[in-house]
Amino acid sequence: MKKNVFVFSRLSPEHQQRLRHNFNVTLLDPAGDIDAQYASALPEAHGLLGVGRPFGRAQLERAGRLEVISTISVGYDNYELAYLNERGILLTNTPDVLTETTADLGFTLLMAAARRVPELDAWVKAGHWQAPVGPAQFGSDVHGKTLGILGLGNIGAAIARRGRFGFNMEVLYSGNSRKPALEQELGARYCGFDELLGEADFVVLVVPLSAQTRHLIGRRELALMKPSAILVNVARGPVVDEAALVEALQNGQIRAAGLDVYEKEPLRESPLFALPNVVTLPHVGSATHETRQAMAELALDNLERALLGGTPRHRVNPQVRAR
Ligand code: DGY
Repeated sequence: MKKNVFVFSRLSPEHQQRLRHNFNVTLLDPAGDIDAQYASALPEAHGLLGVGRPFGRAQLERAGRLEVISTISVGYDNYELAYLNERGILLTNTPDVLTETTADLGFTLLMAAARRVPELDAWVKAGHWQAPVGPAQFGSDVHGKTLGILGLGNIGAAIARRGRFGFNMEVLYSGNSRKPALEQELGARYCGFDELLGEADFVVLVVPLSAQTRHLIGRRELALMKPSAILVNVARGPVVDEAALVEALQNGQIRAAGLDVYEKEPLRESPLFALPNVVTLPHVGSATHETRQAMAELALDNLERALLGGTPRHRVNPQVRAR
């Protein structure tokens, strides 16, 4: 008998067809009553597929048959791992296929904030370009500056490579463990957290969200950064205390920020909107046609393997065995 899969994110018609080949598939209708759809689908579901919705204990208690959740993301902070382990629910994710794309976006934000791209674009379109530009329109150099990476994993390393080899930047990193291979490849220097904040011209956040990294950057940390520094966040919004960041940007404590993620998403209103020295993107780190396609493929593959008796390629909690 076919197992039941509940898909809670948009899925291409080709992927829907592929899933239906092996499973009874229920698709969330975003225009319908969301809570009612979850209430009827969760108790039946053997598998969940999607991204962008937190599933805690309260929701999953209703999902008595659940065997696997296949998230179409590398991050898995939407799930309570301890609870999934206790229930024997496997969680799979989609690393690697999004590394370079997310690094492209991280570097885009860095460049856009440094050279004030969205702000100057809006200025030109508003008809303010009446004479040659002056210091009021100047930005900051990127090449040759110091790039501080917090979270030198795959994506952090890909951003560091862009900085080192594309822009001749000095790379600093901090974290729980040293990365000798990357130190060698990139000439990256391992340093203390406070030292990195004090020395970097660009502080780029790429750490996963956890109890340890929630509000990793707050008032104290922003005060340690140079007044000319630029903060880039492509990790998760709650890694930064957003109220403290707003204050720091308003007071000129740091020069600018490039943000892809926020404490509460979607960001519908925010004091950030009034700040010209912030570039705000709508959580698009991995959002290219090619990469989202690759992520969906991988998530489907993970789900199929988990429910059809194989071993998924990317298991977050491998101690839970696929049934
Ligand atoms: C990821 O894959 O974790 C991206 O941030 C999309 O959620």
